[in-house]
Amino acid sequence: MSAAALLAHPAPQATFMEDALQGLKQSPPSLPSKYFYDEVGSRLFDQICDLDEYYLTRTETAIMQDHAGAMAACIGPATRLIEYGSGSSVKTRTLLDHLAAPLGYVPVDISAEHLLQTSEQLSQEYPELHIQPIATDFTQPFSVPALDGPPERRCIYFPGSTIGNFTPQAGRELLDNMAYCAGDQAGLLIGIDLQKDPTVLEAAYNDAAGVTAAFNKNLLHRIKHELAGDVSVDQFEHSAFYNDRHGRIEMHLVSRCPQTISLQGHSFPFNAGDTIRTEYSHKYTLDGFTATAKQCGWHCQQVWTDVNDYFAVMYFEH
Ligand code: AVI
Repeated sequence: MSAAALLAHPAPQATFMEDALQGLKQSPPSLPSKYFYDEVGSRLFDQICDLDEYYLTRTETAIMQDHAGAMAACIGPATRLIEYGSGSSVKTRTLLDHLAAPLGYVPVDISAEHLLQTSEQLSQEYPELHIQPIATDFTQPFSVPALDGPPERRCIYFPGSTIGNFTPQAGRELLDNMAYCAGDQAGLLIGIDLQKDPTVLEAAYNDAAGVTAAFNKNLLHRIKHELAGDVSVDQFEHSAFYNDRHGRIEMHLVSRCPQTISLQGHSFPFNAGDTIRTEYSHKYTLDGFTATAKQCGWHCQQVWTDVNDYFAVMYFEH
């Protein structure tokens, strides 16, 4: 069976220009982290995932490999798996290998091209699986058309600790949207990065090879080349540090000297040391995330972690 035709749900979206102008006007200025992921940024992110310092990906992958059977047992048979931000669906395969008679798989991603490639590939690897790709910005509410037949049970899969890149308020809105999308008796399997020694956290976002710095600065390259902004990329430097009070890594671009970014007739002056915030990456405690999810009606059923308690995959029901 080949993958079902791609469904596109174009959400009303601000453009990169509008978001960049809006972010640079803020005090202090910021740029949305979703713009990291153009072709160059996605390639850099893939390299980050392989770095020694970036423990997140390999730790979560190992948890999935060790416990996929137990996770599949929680999810149960005849369930439709909906993955938010599916990308290449790498960790999903481990889960799909263990699910009992899944009703289908719905990969959701903003990149239609990536989705089509991955869905075609998956349909060859899992010829019995009904695959319904949906191209949309999953931060906006969307719905998944029901299959013919009796009401279906659904489970959302959201790996990678991507929830950590949302503000607490936006994260709760996303958990609410997931509950709406998944319907009655739903499951949620989610990967979250845990709080730990700040030295370990800060090393993960300040790798020796400078890949994360290049990933961060790619935002300025995009402003320069795609939006015709006047910006001296080399006069900004990468900074990432753990903010203990908020339990999050913050990534910034720090101005090395007094300078101005000009964009579409607007001027944004910077003194030496002024920063543009480009990303939050929240780190959680198990209790803290359980309480947040509960506010959105998700009740924790099971938790799997690694030996160091660096990362957790949690299963919730609504
Ligand atoms: C995608 N996200 C979970 C990554 C993170 O760790 O917050 C993005 C990233 N930023 C810098 N390195 C990786």
